[in-house]
Amino acid sequence: MTSPRRATAQAHPNIALIKYWGNRDDYWRLPANDSLSFNLAGLWTRTTVVFDPAAEADRLILHGQEVRGSALQRVQRVLDAVRARAGLAWRAQVTSENNFPMAAGIASSASAFAALAVAAAAAAGLALDEAGLSRLARLGSGSAARSVPGGYVVWRAGAHDADSFAYTFLPAAHWALADCIAVVSTQAKAVGSTHGHALAHTSPLQAARVADTPRRLALAQDALLRRDFEQLAWVVELDTHLMHAVMQTSQPPLLYWQAASLTVMHAVRAWRAQGRAVAYTLDAGPNVHVLCPEDEAQAVARDLAALPGVREVRIATVGGPARRLD
Ligand code: PMV
Repeated sequence: MTSPRRATAQAHPNIALIKYWGNRDDYWRLPANDSLSFNLAGLWTRTTVVFDPAAEADRLILHGQEVRGSALQRVQRVLDAVRARAGLAWRAQVTSENNFPMAAGIASSASAFAALAVAAAAAAGLALDEAGLSRLARLGSGSAARSVPGGYVVWRAGAHDADSFAYTFLPAAHWALADCIAVVSTQAKAVGSTHGHALAHTSPLQAARVADTPRRLALAQDALLRRDFEQLAWVVELDTHLMHAVMQTSQPPLLYWQAASLTVMHAVRAWRAQGRAVAYTLDAGPNVHVLCPEDEAQAVARDLAALPGVREVRIATVGGPARRLD
């Protein structure tokens, strides 16, 4: 009898500067537009995959608890793709944990599916390159495609499964930025992003947002290349406003902002008007990601923590790629 095959991998979540919202193809998670992000160092998901000839079904254990239903099905989408490529029929046990509380509202699907892709491919003996791993992670969660490469990452939408993957645009060392995450709510969001993507096309603003994305992406890439914080702040805030305008005008509308989110957004704008290098962006939730130079992160985090409605602030610097741990 052959013995089980196991591998463990770690990946960071990421924060998008130019957002992914809406798919041109929901089944393959082919996005409506290109996007740009950096990985969040210090925050991670660690996942172990064991393909076992004796196992009767795939199992998912998150923080020691067995999970079934749609979360397991998303994991099986990735496992099935790996099994098909490797010519393997064995069921798997997937064990995963985050070092950040999922209840803190920091998106965990990106790090989760990037770690799963790397661990599952390794356990099955598949030698995939970075693009192949990014494509595999994308099947579980679109933004997970961007958590596979390190540093500042671009995900080209592509037209097919084969050309929709992320790559490093600039290494982390190019510019020491930080993300100070102002946590304003610890509640699970009412509408998850998989459902949200499917609503994007119901907003009359989505087509305009998508059509303008090449311009915003070019401005953001140029700002990063030249380390121009003012230009970066301008385009990042424009991009998040556009995505939230689409969300807020979808049918049904999605309003992720809380009163405390707006408190933080106004404070950041006031600080920038006083000459501080700070900018905000929000994902599909109420927490506010405040970008700043890394050497100012402690001071920014302290000032954010003093704002009404801010429960805690986590600081993340620009992180590296998803990688095997064993
Ligand atoms: O990967 P998903 O399906 O969780 O989508 C994430 C979408 C946003 O976080 C809202 C934006 C982005 O580009 O990360």
